[in-house]
Amino acid sequence: MMALASLFCNANVTQEFELSKHWQFSHDKTNWQEVTIPHDWAISGPFDKKWDLQVVAIKENGEETETEHSGRSGALPWIGEGYYKTQIVLPEGTERAELLFDGAMSEPIVYLDGKEVGRWAYGYNAFRIDITPYIKNSDYKGELEVHLKNVEESSRWYPGAGLYRPAKLITSGRVAIDTWGMDIHTIKVENDTALVAVDSQLNGCVAGEYPVITVAITDRNGKVVAETQRRIASDGYCRMELKMPHANLWSPESPYLYKVNTTVELNGQLVDQRTDNLGVRTVTFSKEHGFQLNGVTRKFKGVCLHHDLGPLGAAANKAALARQLKIMKEMGADAIRTSHNMPSTWQMELCDSLGLMVMAESFDCWKDPKVKNGYNRFWDEWWKKDIYNLIMNHRNHPSIVLWSVGNEIPEQWKEEGAERYAALVRWCHMLDPTRKVTCGMDNPDADIKCGFAQQADVPGFNYRTHRYEDCIKQLPQGFVLGSETASTLSSRGVYFFPDTCAKMLEHENGQCSSYDTEYCWWSNLPDDDWRLQDDFDWTIGEFVWTGFDYLGEPTPYDVYWPSRSSYFGIVDLAGLPKDRYYLYRSHWNKESHTIHLLPHWTWPDRKGKVTPVYCYTDYPTAELFVNGKSQGKISKDPSTRLDRYRLRWRDVVYEPGEIKVVVYDENGKKAGEKTVKTAGKPHRLQLDADRSVLNADDNDLAFITVSLIDKNGTLLPDADDDLQFSVEGAGNFRGVCNGDATSLQVMTEPQMKLFHGQLVIVVQASETAGDITLRVKGNKGYLNGAIKLRSK
Ligand code: GAL
Repeated sequence: MMALASLFCNANVTQEFELSKHWQFSHDKTNWQEVTIPHDWAISGPFDKKWDLQVVAIKENGEETETEHSGRSGALPWIGEGYYKTQIVLPEGTERAELLFDGAMSEPIVYLDGKEVGRWAYGYNAFRIDITPYIKNSDYKGELEVHLKNVEESSRWYPGAGLYRPAKLITSGRVAIDTWGMDIHTIKVENDTALVAVDSQLNGCVAGEYPVITVAITDRNGKVVAETQRRIASDGYCRMELKMPHANLWSPESPYLYKVNTTVELNGQLVDQRTDNLGVRTVTFSKEHGFQLNGVTRKFKGVCLHHDLGPLGAAANKAALARQLKIMKEMGADAIRTSHNMPSTWQMELCDSLGLMVMAESFDCWKDPKVKNGYNRFWDEWWKKDIYNLIMNHRNHPSIVLWSVGNEIPEQWKEEGAERYAALVRWCHMLDPTRKVTCGMDNPDADIKCGFAQQADVPGFNYRTHRYEDCIKQLPQGFVLGSETASTLSSRGVYFFPDTCAKMLEHENGQCSSYDTEYCWWSNLPDDDWRLQDDFDWTIGEFVWTGFDYLGEPTPYDVYWPSRSSYFGIVDLAGLPKDRYYLYRSHWNKESHTIHLLPHWTWPDRKGKVTPVYCYTDYPTAELFVNGKSQGKISKDPSTRLDRYRLRWRDVVYEPGEIKVVVYDENGKKAGEKTVKTAGKPHRLQLDADRSVLNADDNDLAFITVSLIDKNGTLLPDADDDLQFSVEGAGNFRGVCNGDATSLQVMTEPQMKLFHGQLVIVVQASETAGDITLRVKGNKGYLNGAIKLRSK
C-alpha cells in the first residue's frame, strides 16, 4: 500500500492522491489479482464471437429482420461483473474527504469498509462521493471497494470494462474550495483587453467568519498579469472579474494557457490553494457569421473519436491520448467530438494544451432505446445529474466550444423528443450560460417537422448531405453543422479492382478498399461534405466519422466473422494512417503541402492489368509517369464529384518499376514530386518510435511502428509474417496492434502478424529510469530488429 503519510505537507490545504497503484481485482471476489488503475478487464480477450453475439435488427442501419450479429461491441469479454479493492489513508487532520472517479464502466457502487457510500449509473461520466461522514477519526484508514456491472446489449460499440479512468482521493481542511467550485471563463475581449470571470464556491464557511480569497493570473513566464482579492460571505460564493490587457488568445493555432492561482486565507492563515488553467477565447454562432472563434469565422475541421485506445482497450492513458490527438492535428484537424459520451479529463487537458476544439458529448440515447439495455434504463432518474457532472467537471476547459446532448436520438422525430431536447438545452444553459448546445440529428425532414431541430442552438446533421440545401431554408438558426460526416470505409493497404464507387460493398476477405470510394447506405464520401462546405457559407464545418478506427461496429461486416472493429477510421486501430489520412490532409492542412500516391506498386499478379492511380495533394495539377512514360497531366475538376479534390488516372496499366507524380501550383510551376517503387525482396525490419525518451513513471508509453522493407527502404505491402516481441531493461511490453479488423490475435500478448507489412508495438516505461530495449523476432533471418529507448 502507498505510504501516503510521507507525502503530506499541510493537511488543511486540498490535496489530491491518484489512487492508481495497489488495487486488487476479481470477477468473483475469490480470486484476486493485483492491477493498476486505469484498467480494462476485457482487453486481454480472447476475441470470440460468443461474448457479444446478438440476434437483432439494427434499426439505425435500416435492418428490419433479426439476424445474428457478431463483433458489434468488439467481441471481447466486457459483459459481467468486476470488483476492485484498495486501502485508503487520510492525512492527519483531514476534515473533508471525497472520492473522484473520472468514469467507471459501469453502474459503479462504492463501498467503504463494507458500507455503501455512493453509486453512479452511467459508465462514461465523472462522479464524486463525499466520504466525510464516514471518517471516524482524523487519521482514518479504510478499505475502498468498487463493484461494477456490465449487462449485455448495453452498447453499440466496445465500452471497455472496469476502472478504466483515473480515481482520486481528495482531502482538505474544513474551509476549502469545492472540487468543481471554480468557474473560470472569458466574458469578452475588446481592443486587446480580456475581461475574465472567476467564480468560486467554498465549502465549510460559517457565519461570522470571513475568509479572504486571492486570485492571481500568471502568464507562461510566471508573470502576474491580473490579480484581485475579496472577502467571502458565509454562503461561500464569490464572483470576481479581472481585466487582462494585451491578452494572448487561445486557439488551435496558438493554444495559449494562463494559470489562475487561487489562495484562501482565514484569520491570516492559508487554508486552501489551487491552480487552474485559463484559455482566453470567445466563441459565437450566428446567422451572419456562422461559427466564430475570437471573432474570426472558421469551419470545423473535426473528427469524431470513440474512447477506446486500440490495444489498450478503454484504459485511459495520457501518452496514448496525446499521440492520437497529435496524429489528428498533423492531418490538419482542429476539433474533436467525443462521441457519444463524456470525455476523460486527461483528454480535455490535452486538447487545451495541444490546441483542439471540442464538442463534448453525453448520450447515444435518451428515454427511447437503441439497444435493449442502453442508457434508456437510467434516463428518468439520471439525465439531469449526468449533464450536471459533465458540465461541472469540464466547464473550465477552453477547448470545449460546444456541448452535445445526444446522438441520433430515437425520439428525434416526435414532439416528445423535441420537449426533451428543449429541457436539456435549458438545463445546459442554466449550468453554463457561456456555451451553446447541439445534438446530432439524422432525419432532417422529420426533425424539422416535429420541432426538434428548432430546439438546437447549433443544428447538427449526421450525413444526409443531399438534404442540406433544402433544409437550411427551414432552419431558423441559419447555419448547419456536419455533426457527423463521411463514414467512408477502408482498410489500410487493401485495394480492390476495379476502383468501384459504391455503398455497402462486401469483399470475401472482410476488408474494404483504400481507394476511398466505399461507404454506407446512410453515409457519403469526404468529397460530398467538402463540396457543401466550400460552396455554402451557411455550413460551419464537420466532424468526420471517425478519426481513428475503434473496437466494435464492424460495418459493413456486422454479420461476417471474424470482424470485430471498425473500418471508418481515417487511421487504423494501430494509429497508422490509411490513404484517406492524406486526402483529409491535402484539404485541411494549410501549413505544409501534401503529395501522396496510391496504391502501392507491388502487384506481381497484375502485370498488364488496369490499376488506377490516385494522387492526394493540395496542388491543383499533376502529371503521372509509369517507368518514365507519361500517363497525362490532369487538373482537379470542380464540376465533378470525385475529381474536385482528388487527381485520378484510372486507365493506368500495371508494370513493375515505379510510378512518379510531378505536381504543379496555380501558376503552372512545378512544385514537387513523389515516387512509389515496386518492392524487391524482404531485407529487414525497420523500427520507428514516436518517442525515444519516456518518463520513468510506470505509465508513460512509446509506440513503435514495425515495417518490413526491401534494401531500398520500400515497404513489402503484403507481408503478413508472424512476429514475437520482448522488452528488456526499464520497461515492459504493453500491447500490439496491426490494424486488421479481422484479426483474432490478442492485443496484449507479445506476438502478432504484420498486416500489409506493418504493425505497432506499445512499450511502457517502468518506475526505474534506464535503457529499454525492444526486440522483434520472426522465423526468417531478416525478421529481426531491435530499438533502444530511454526512460528518466
Ligand atoms: C452513425 C452513428 C455512429 C456510427 C455511424 C456509423 O449513424 O451516429 O455512432 O454508428 O453511424 O456510420
